[in-house]
Amino acid sequence: MIIPVKMKNDFYNIILERGSLKKAGDFIPCQNRKALIVTDSGVPEEYSISVAQSLGNAVIFTFQQGEGSKNFDTYKAICQKLLEENFSRKDCVVAVGGGVVGDIAGFAAATFMRGIDFYNIPTTLLSQVDSSIGGKTAIDLNGIKNIIGAFYQPKCVIIDPDVLSTLPKRQISNGLAESIKMGITGDETLFEIFENSNYLERIDEIIEKSILVKRAVVQEDEKEAGLRKVLNFGHTIGHAIETSVGLGELYHGECVSLGMIFMCGNDIKERVKTVLESVNLPTEIDYNKQAVYSALTHDKKAGGNKVTLVKSNKIGAFYFEEVEIDELRSYL
Ligand SMILES: NC(=O)c1ccc[n+]([C@@H]2O[C@H](COP(=O)([O-])OP(=O)(O)OC[C@H]3O[C@@H](n4cnc5c(N)ncnc54)[C@H](O)[C@@H]3O)[C@@H](O)[C@H]2O)c1
Repeated sequence: MIIPVKMKNDFYNIILERGSLKKAGDFIPCQNRKALIVTDSGVPEEYSISVAQSLGNAVIFTFQQGEGSKNFDTYKAICQKLLEENFSRKDCVVAVGGGVVGDIAGFAAATFMRGIDFYNIPTTLLSQVDSSIGGKTAIDLNGIKNIIGAFYQPKCVIIDPDVLSTLPKRQISNGLAESIKMGITGDETLFEIFENSNYLERIDEIIEKSILVKRAVVQEDEKEAGLRKVLNFGHTIGHAIETSVGLGELYHGECVSLGMIFMCGNDIKERVKTVLESVNLPTEIDYNKQAVYSALTHDKKAGGNKVTLVKSNKIGAFYFEEVEIDELRSYL
């Protein structure tokens, strides 16, 4: 299946097809050009090797897995590799990995020689349903996530659901949090897949529907001027929980799961909880209210005294509500 994405000045296809990783060369023009495949140590090696074999003229660069690598050192090492291998503007960078690999490889592609072609082959569920679309690339600095980056669209995204067979279960749930978010805010039929069937048997459809919800949002609001805030559903309190429990303790998707509950109206809260629990995501934790509130205010005060919350009273729909930061205490 091909999902076209039309941005203001860019157009690219998302290929969603089982077995597509091995056929990467069918989608990435590789005649008379080199490719740097960027991956990390947690991504099974066979994936980058397969892509390299399919492309022909490719070099593989592997960095240490984890968010801790999404920094200037790794970025510099990728750029240095591009220099060493004499990459020119006609060559390209191919990410094979999760969101960490995609974000940093995309940023290197965006900036090397002021931009060379970037192709993304996301291999975690989170990166397939979320970071594969929208063109955000970034690295972290001083513990602040994604603070240095660029909007840079890939030339093509290749999603092969077969690679999910090696992904740990907890990482599958982590990605599903974002899909459930897309369902709650943008597509009731996506949400109903979780209610009415075994989600593992319908994972391809879940990926497709999640991408369609995100595509509709990013095509309308490429650079986060307004509508794109809907993608933050569950993230305001979720992110504060993530910070207050200590980064890494809970996965991002698990914190989004907890955060979404606060933003659901009474009419849908139980339905949402049931779905989240059915995919092994937490809906309640014993959290320190004061610590979460401090994280919330610390995060938000820089942007003024008000914060825009994304809320939902009806599956498939959302609304924005602007509240005073102090009011957030009553949500906890
Ligand atoms: N650009 C965007 O729009 C966007 C959106 C959401 C998240 N992000 C970023 O994505 C990152 C999180 O991405 P993530 O959740 O994919 O984490 P990740 O990239 O760290 O991957 C999680 C782990 O899974 C391993 N892995 C990857 N594919 C695998 C596979 N098929 N089989 C087995 N193991 C595999 C990785 O090595 C890693 O250890 C964050 O840095 C976040 O900021 C970016």
